[in-house]
Amino acid sequence: MTILVTGGAGYIGAHVVRLLLERGESVVVVDSLSTGRPERVSGAALVDLDLGADGAAAHLEALLVKEQVDAVIHIAALKQVGESMADPLLYYRQNVGGMTNLLSAMQQAGVRRFVFSSSAATYGMPEETTVTEKTPCQPINPYGQTKLIGEWMTEASARAWGLRPVNLRYFNVAGAQSPDLADPAALNLVPIVIGKVLNGEAPVIFGDDYPTPDGTCVRDYVHISDLASAHLAALDSTAGDGPLETVLNVGTGMGASVLEVVKLVGEVAGREVTPTIVGRRAGDPPKLVADVSLIERALGWKAKLGLSEIVESAWNAEVVRRGTSAT
Ligand SMILES: NC(=O)c1ccc[n+]([C@@H]2O[C@H](COP(=O)([O-])OP(=O)(O)OC[C@H]3O[C@@H](n4cnc5c(N)ncnc54)[C@H](O)[C@@H]3O)[C@@H](O)[C@H]2O)c1
Repeated sequence: MTILVTGGAGYIGAHVVRLLLERGESVVVVDSLSTGRPERVSGAALVDLDLGADGAAAHLEALLVKEQVDAVIHIAALKQVGESMADPLLYYRQNVGGMTNLLSAMQQAGVRRFVFSSSAATYGMPEETTVTEKTPCQPINPYGQTKLIGEWMTEASARAWGLRPVNLRYFNVAGAQSPDLADPAALNLVPIVIGKVLNGEAPVIFGDDYPTPDGTCVRDYVHISDLASAHLAALDSTAGDGPLETVLNVGTGMGASVLEVVKLVGEVAGREVTPTIVGRRAGDPPKLVADVSLIERALGWKAKLGLSEIVESAWNAEVVRRGTSAT
């Protein structure tokens, strides 16, 4: 089987590509290399293309036909919430425009199997602390909106021309399967705290007066290796013409607080880590954890790794990347 992976040179995409190759699939990566790196595609064919560029749909259609692609895993996107608020049209152009080009090409080429990187950002600030796929989606920033619009495009395409989509709503992804695939961008809590500790600085916690057991925000952290395997399970579910669950949370169903993450990094580092507590940030719900019963039922998928494996693997990878010693 030949699978086209967009964003395959990025953090999550590189893990998915490697797992597909290990399973013996043929993989073609499309990536603009805006944040991705060519050395991370594990030897898969790499096409340097911006999905949002003029003419991208025709280019993609030709590629799908030439490579006889059976399925697409669409991971490429811009993903920085703050940037999306400062420059919303960039996010609409790249994420929504890019996905429109991709789906148009698939429609023309007759490729129907599709897995999409959606996000828990689609939920916004839900009233429930444990969210199911039926929890109303009210994204609170343009980034989350582009993900929800992407889901709508897949649902409409399913009805109109038979697309077989699975939208995976990732929760907080972290860790590394191996150091060469690590996330080099410190944009999420785990890499941010690790970076601070390695730099000898105090990690910052935004608010310790939330209605949670230790007062800091609780999130659902999923190991990148588990997330990658969820893509393969989702991809397999798109085969044939049977019933399909089209929206699935991907998390562990377990919450961990910011303070717990900071403490765990300190343990892995073998250092006393004292965070600096500052005021709350706007737009942070106290607790956001995935209800994972649907993905377990629909795909037989369940996360195998926990927070300690996430933090250990992310720490080891960052130490290797920096060429520093672990203690
Ligand atoms: N990292 C997380 O915790 C998280 C959580 C929820 C959802 N997601 C989603 O997962 C996906 C991957 O995230 P990541 O953490 O690997 O980010 P990343 O920045 O490491 O990877 C994104 C990849 O997409 C490529 N890309 C971006 N825009 C493109 C375009 N217009 N055309 C072609 N290639 C383009 C980049 O060069 C990069 O290789 C994104 O869609 C993101 O929204 C990530």
